[in-house]
Amino acid sequence: MKEKIQELKQKFNTELDAVKDTKALEDLRLVFFSKKGLISDLMKELGKVPNEQKKEFGQLINGLKKELNDKFDEKKLELVKLEEESEINATEAYDESMPTRCACGSYHPITLVQRDLEDIFKSMGFDVEDYNEIVDDYHCFEALNIPKFHPARDMQDTYYLSTPNQLLKSHTSAAQNAIMRKYGDALKKQKRPIKAVFPGRCFRNEAIDACHENTFFQMEGIMIDEDISISNLIYFMKTMLSEVFERDVTVRLRPGFFPFVEPGFELDIQCLICGGDGCPSCKNSGWLELCPCGMIHPNVLKYGGINTEEEPDKYTGFAFGLGLTRLAMMKFGIKDIRVLNEFDLNSLSQFVSK
Ligand code: PHE
Repeated sequence: MKEKIQELKQKFNTELDAVKDTKALEDLRLVFFSKKGLISDLMKELGKVPNEQKKEFGQLINGLKKELNDKFDEKKLELVKLEEESEINATEAYDESMPTRCACGSYHPITLVQRDLEDIFKSMGFDVEDYNEIVDDYHCFEALNIPKFHPARDMQDTYYLSTPNQLLKSHTSAAQNAIMRKYGDALKKQKRPIKAVFPGRCFRNEAIDACHENTFFQMEGIMIDEDISISNLIYFMKTMLSEVFERDVTVRLRPGFFPFVEPGFELDIQCLICGGDGCPSCKNSGWLELCPCGMIHPNVLKYGGINTEEEPDKYTGFAFGLGLTRLAMMKFGIKDIRVLNEFDLNSLSQFVSK
């Protein structure tokens, strides 16, 4: 028995020495350590040994098992390390000086359009405001005259967080109330009109296709003071759009319904491609729908702390919600909205501001 143990040890050592990779090591493991392997065979022979020697041989076999196991593990570590190293050496070295496919970074088309608009609005005296993406039901709906169960909510189904009452804002109008509260004092005490734009990412539960995305950008604007009327709205929209498109644009207002404006409009611009004659871009109508807007609803002004019960009509204002994503698509001739969220640097780097 002792000889057999000795022989097995020697056989293991020689074979282990010859092993050059992890695959051969695995074969060796099967030969020695598996259920039907040589060590198991040896254990079986223990049964034939006279009782008084069983203890001694049992201990010897266990010692052998441990010794071989340790050697096996040591060899395994060594081989794995070697194989990893050779794999690293075999891969092509990273050359920092190589030009990348997209040689220099560029701004996202939406960022470009957003910055253009911010500059235009700043030059007309508007403040640019930032606002949260996660909002509560009150700011996104109730404060905008959209009570619970109002059908207008169907158009703005969005993503609700597991935290109660928290949702991803479905439109930038969700910031109106906060902005009114922020600047309300300056309006009343310093007679400083509220003029603010607030760009932001919006979310809606949409089936995605070339024209619809669940994530898109808008830029909201409000102006509130005494005696603000629809003519102010038309003036600002026309000036801003002429700047954006770098030419004089003709606009028209059609009635449109949004619970937070009264009256509400859809603002169209005359098609820039055909000049109003009708072409495929404007679906032969001569007009492009661009921007919902309207006079801020009295309830919204009240919820924002602007008008009081005593003087419910003191201040008036207009609001508009420009689709930044749509504007970027128009400006850069992007036909598929999905391009904007795909983050493919090769397509996105084609757009540069003029
Ligand atoms: N928030 C509206 C929407 O996303 C757009 C809008 C803004 C309409 C401001 C009127 C005034 O559908």
